[in-house]
Amino acid sequence: MSPKPVHCASIAAVITEFHVATSTFPVTADTIGVRIVAAIGRRGELGRDNRLLFRLKADMANYRRITAKTPLVMGRKTWESLPKRPLPGRPNIVATRNLDFLAPGAFVYSSLPPALAAARAMASASGVPEVSIIGGAAIYEAGLALATHMTLTEVDAEAEATVFFPRFDRSLWRETSSVHVAADADNEASFVIREFERK
Ligand SMILES: NC(=O)c1ccc[n+]([C@@H]2O[C@H](COP(=O)([O-])OP(=O)(O)OC[C@H]3O[C@@H](n4cnc5c(N)ncnc54)[C@H](OP(=O)(O)O)[C@@H]3O)[C@@H](O)[C@H]2O)c1
Repeated sequence: MSPKPVHCASIAAVITEFHVATSTFPVTADTIGVRIVAAIGRRGELGRDNRLLFRLKADMANYRRITAKTPLVMGRKTWESLPKRPLPGRPNIVATRNLDFLAPGAFVYSSLPPALAAARAMASASGVPEVSIIGGAAIYEAGLALATHMTLTEVDAEAEATVFFPRFDRSLWRETSSVHVAADADNEASFVIREFERK
């Protein structure tokens, strides 16, 4: 038996319908950006004994602004370092290899790719254009290859540290802006906030 001929007009109708439907869809999770957000000393210092190193009020304000609505992806140690858990107003997502780990108020994943996939789906569902990877060193290391954007605060100071931002190839990134902030009573050192996007 020969296959039934397909009516071209109906295919065209299906294609037109598909275009209309897709063009009115909200952003899909695939289009959601992944931003690394970190503050580092001159030597890439990130933290010591599960604490931050620098007291920079203006940088904290910028951090709150950038991450205000974005799902936050973090490592188990950074989660434990938060003075108030979860950080309010957005989903908190914690990566740990400990399948018994409980993080009340957060979502827990056992590796970074599914944590990021969940974060992107949550962002997409609430119309937010990106998710934030907020540390620490282990999660930045794993996240660098997956990130599309970075906000790096480069602090003009050195500090004793136990964890450092991973080395990365700057030639893969385009700097899109930089803002210089001088030291003052609220900011113990001067710093530059640099925005990057992947080339
Ligand atoms: N300066 C900044 O911008 C900044 C930002 C954030 C944090 N920090 C500082 O960074 C320090 C914490 O960084 P850290 O590197 O020690 O810890 P972390 O990255 O916050 O957490 C490490 C833990 O996350 C889990 N983990 C890491 N990679 C994973 C993966 N690929 N899949 C699944 N789970 C994974 C493991 O948890 P389990 O051991 O439970 O398996 C690991 O022990 C603190 O001092 C903090 O203050 C600084």
